[in-house]
Amino acid sequence: MIKFWLVFFMVLSNGFYSTGAGMNNSTVPDSVNIGILYSFNTTIGRILQIALEAAIDDVNSDPSILGKTQLNILMQEDSKYRGFLSIAETLQLMAKRTVAIIGPQSTITAHVISHVANELQVPLLSFSATDPTLSPVQFPFFIRTAQNDLYMMTAIAELVAFYGWREVIAIFVDDDQGRNGIAALGDKLSERRCKISYKAPMTAEPTKEEITDVLVQVALAESRIIVLHTNTIWGPKIFSVAQNLGMMGTGYVWIATSFLTTLLDTASPLPPDEMQDIQGVVTLRMYTAETELKRRFVSRWKNLTRGNTSDGPMGLTAYCLYAYDTVWLLARAIDTFFKQGNRITFSNDSKLSELHGDNLHLDALNIFNEGNILRSCILGVNMTGVTGQVRYTSDCNLVNPAFEIVNVIGSGVRRIGYWSNHSGLSVVPPESLYSKPTNRSNQKLNPVIWPGDTVQKPRGWVFPNNGKRLKIGIPKRVSYREFVSQAPGTDVFKGFCIDVFLAAVNLLPYGVPYNFVPFGDGHSNPSNSELVRLITAGVYDAAVGDITITTERTKMVDFTQPFIESGLVVVTPVKKMESSAWAFLRPFTPLMWAVTAIFFLVVGAVVWILEHRLNDDFRGPPKKQVVTILWFSFSTMFFAHRENTVSTLGRLVLLIWLFVVLIINSSYTASLTSILTVQQLASPIKGIESLVNSHDRIGYLQGSFTRNYLIEELGIDESRLVPLTTPEETAKALKDGSHKGGVAAYIDERAYIELFLASRCDFTIVGQEFTRNGWGFAFPRDSPLAIDLSTAILELAENGDLQRIHDKWLLSRACLSQGAKLEVDRLNLKSFWGLYLVAGFACFLALFIYLIQIMRQYKKHYSEELESSPSPSQQSSGSSRVRTFMSFVDEKEEDVKNRSKRRQMERISYRSNDGGSSSAMC
Ligand SMILES: *[C@@H]1O[C@H](CO)[C@@H](O)[C@H](O)[C@H]1NC(C)=O
Ligand SMILES: *[C@@H]1O[C@H](CO)[C@@H](O)[C@H](O)[C@H]1NC(C)=O
Ligand SMILES: *[C@@H]1O[C@H](CO)[C@@H](O)[C@H](O)[C@H]1NC(C)=O
Ligand SMILES: *[C@@H]1O[C@H](CO)[C@@H](O)[C@H](O)[C@H]1NC(C)=O
Ligand SMILES: *[C@@H]1O[C@H](CO)[C@@H](O)[C@H](O)[C@H]1NC(C)=O
Ligand SMILES: *[C@@H]1O[C@H](CO)[C@@H](O)[C@H](O)[C@H]1NC(C)=O
Ligand SMILES: *[C@@H]1O[C@H](CO)[C@@H](O)[C@H](O)[C@H]1NC(C)=O
Repeated sequence: MIKFWLVFFMVLSNGFYSTGAGMNNSTVPDSVNIGILYSFNTTIGRILQIALEAAIDDVNSDPSILGKTQLNILMQEDSKYRGFLSIAETLQLMAKRTVAIIGPQSTITAHVISHVANELQVPLLSFSATDPTLSPVQFPFFIRTAQNDLYMMTAIAELVAFYGWREVIAIFVDDDQGRNGIAALGDKLSERRCKISYKAPMTAEPTKEEITDVLVQVALAESRIIVLHTNTIWGPKIFSVAQNLGMMGTGYVWIATSFLTTLLDTASPLPPDEMQDIQGVVTLRMYTAETELKRRFVSRWKNLTRGNTSDGPMGLTAYCLYAYDTVWLLARAIDTFFKQGNRITFSNDSKLSELHGDNLHLDALNIFNEGNILRSCILGVNMTGVTGQVRYTSDCNLVNPAFEIVNVIGSGVRRIGYWSNHSGLSVVPPESLYSKPTNRSNQKLNPVIWPGDTVQKPRGWVFPNNGKRLKIGIPKRVSYREFVSQAPGTDVFKGFCIDVFLAAVNLLPYGVPYNFVPFGDGHSNPSNSELVRLITAGVYDAAVGDITITTERTKMVDFTQPFIESGLVVVTPVKKMESSAWAFLRPFTPLMWAVTAIFFLVVGAVVWILEHRLNDDFRGPPKKQVVTILWFSFSTMFFAHRENTVSTLGRLVLLIWLFVVLIINSSYTASLTSILTVQQLASPIKGIESLVNSHDRIGYLQGSFTRNYLIEELGIDESRLVPLTTPEETAKALKDGSHKGGVAAYIDERAYIELFLASRCDFTIVGQEFTRNGWGFAFPRDSPLAIDLSTAILELAENGDLQRIHDKWLLSRACLSQGAKLEVDRLNLKSFWGLYLVAGFACFLALFIYLIQIMRQYKKHYSEELESSPSPSQQSSGSSRVRTFMSFVDEKEEDVKNRSKRRQMERISYRSNDGGSSSAMC
């Protein structure tokens, strides 16, 4: 029911027509009108026509696709490539109710008729209008059925980057295709830090004079990498003129876009003289995988073209394959369209009809109502054709864009590799890489034979002023002439910087013609900033010397890699520490001395206590004992104590103490040694911070960038800065000091300072380098020589030559290694308290054990005493008991033992007397 109303409504609504067999209850018509808009009256057009016709025959005879519906082809010759005529031709086609148009051939036509296609909703399928700016956003009904030029330009950009070239020249036809293609190339090159240095547009049909004019301009440019983006008609003519101008010789690189492979493939072989003109050219071809389908089509191709042209079978270009697949793509899309139950209807109810009444009969044009559906059917096709897999990505480009890169050699071409969007440059076919993850790190190509029959990769640029020697500015230094100086009265320059430059230039694979031009008046050091500025002004082509790379200067010129590190440092005078009579006290802090002395006394006392009862050495009158304690304890300092220790505890304490003494002794010796040899700063300046905060005057090398740095970056007042020219002047100013008209410190780059200090031991660098600069050679912006010299300098650094040149000129002598240490901290208690703790604990423990022993002995002794003399008078009070204890302690152990032995004997004899025997008692 709904269907019925729908159909009814459609019939009623104004101007609905179906194509083919007229009204029917089936939606599938007998035939579908397809327009083809191509220039068939050219060699390539004829070839494409064969491919298209073959495809249409194949589709129409294949029952599996579109059933009994036939593709009805309406051919329209797009004879002129011209905008307006093409529009008229397109309109003619569209008036015939085509559902889709295959074409147009040229990008220019595509741009203009895409607007018409948008309005009438008729999809345009073009395999030759590959301009990247025909975007699916602006022109949704334009569908590119071959590879977008964007990818070809990406491939060229990657090729340029692969060979390490930086700048290219683009020669192109100044039309939509040329301009837009080259714009895309520029974008892709800049993504790879390369650029188009010169664009040389040509009119669409240039005369020989025009080509000559353009090429002469190209030859004058610096770059030798030429990208040629033109068409099959004018390409050979440009090459021919270039050959005549000698631009197909050694040093040049020509990269031609796919027009050249099309030409070579269709007209193969080219006439020998044309072939001669393009020897060594690198060009690209749309890559199609080698499949069975493709092989079959290629073998069919000879049959298709045989006998139809006077000049025999025609070559097969990649465009033929894409043309063949375009028809199939469209057929499959229409098939899907019908399978989805869609009908083909047209309406003239549009803005066009508002124009009716005039004589143009624009109202004959119809809008294809289901154009949008057919468009999405086309974009949704997923098929395998002779070009491989045909499928669209979400941005309406064919999947897996890839190009072959070929090199014209002899009478043919040789493939040097592939480029694919997936994995960049490779020597294996891209389809073998699609399964692997993207990896652009191992880009590879086979060797190329460049113009001039050479396999040596061209450098890619020439010195701009063709043949003239480079004028290299050299600062005429007055001081530190080791870096760069002019031999008096000659034009010969020598020095560290000159040697580095010469060594680097020698590493370049090409010769550099140059002249050294002195800069400066010879009385004072020239300003290197001014020298750098003169490069921008065009006075010099380069500058070689002690030129520090600073931010300000890099804004003007390009520097090479630094060949010497040279940060700013502060230099101050030093004086040898005066040897005072009390220098020997310096190693230890007073506290350390005090604690050490106390420990000597304590250990002496402890040993005395432990030894007193056993050892005769520690006995005697009190006066003698005090002397013994002192003598004993201090003589341990030299391990020279004579008194023998006999008690275990005493030996334990002494052992630990001797260990402590050993360590203190050696620390003292080491510290004293360094204190006596170390120098001392004459000023309180310890580095850049203390210098900035002080009010002292500061010296700097006249003509150096240091002045600006100190004023602008560190905010030092200008009045504090004193320019100094020669090392002698600097030394004198430093000696005088800030208060006597000299300077307190001198700030300069490490490279100069090393030279300065090499022969002057009474100055030293304080603090760290506070900037990290380096010296480089200066070149005009974007100079390719700067890049090559950078590489050469790195090479010099890696193979050790840079160091050898450095040592030759700037070998640092005597004083530099010294003076690194400026102050030695005294040793304080902190470093030793662990030792003292151990020693103290040992003493304490020994005393404690000793006390317990003696208490036990005393107790035993006391009870014996009580036993032996139990008289009540002897019943001791507390004080007398202490007294007895004290005397007990003071007694020699031997005596105590003897006494108690005696007492025992007495007791025994007493008992035996009781028993009646009268033995004598002695
Ligand atoms: C349409 O109908 C006619 C008869 O009215 C018939 O001959 C023809 O085959 C039909 N076409 C289709 C596509 O069904
Ligand atoms: C419509 O199609 C059916 C078969 O699908 C057929 O029987 C019928 O005759 C057709 N009607 C017309 C008007 O062609
Ligand atoms: C094809 O081009 C030639 C000149 O190039 C011209 O003489 C001829 O008439 C053209 N043929 C057609 C069919 O346009
Ligand atoms: C080419 O044509 C010949 C006869 O004209 C035929 O025998 C042969 O099979 C054809 N080859 C192909 C690939 O179509
Ligand atoms: C040769 O071309 C003509 C049209 O130019 C065409 O009619 C004919 O079929 C072609 N012959 C072959 C063998 O393709
Ligand atoms: C639509 O086109 C037909 C013929 O092509 C014409 O008769 C009719 O008037 C047109 N309708 C409008 C609204 O222009
Ligand atoms: C396209 O078809 C191939 C097989 O012909 C299939 O492997 C692939 O998944 C399909 N892709 C999409 C997006 O449907």
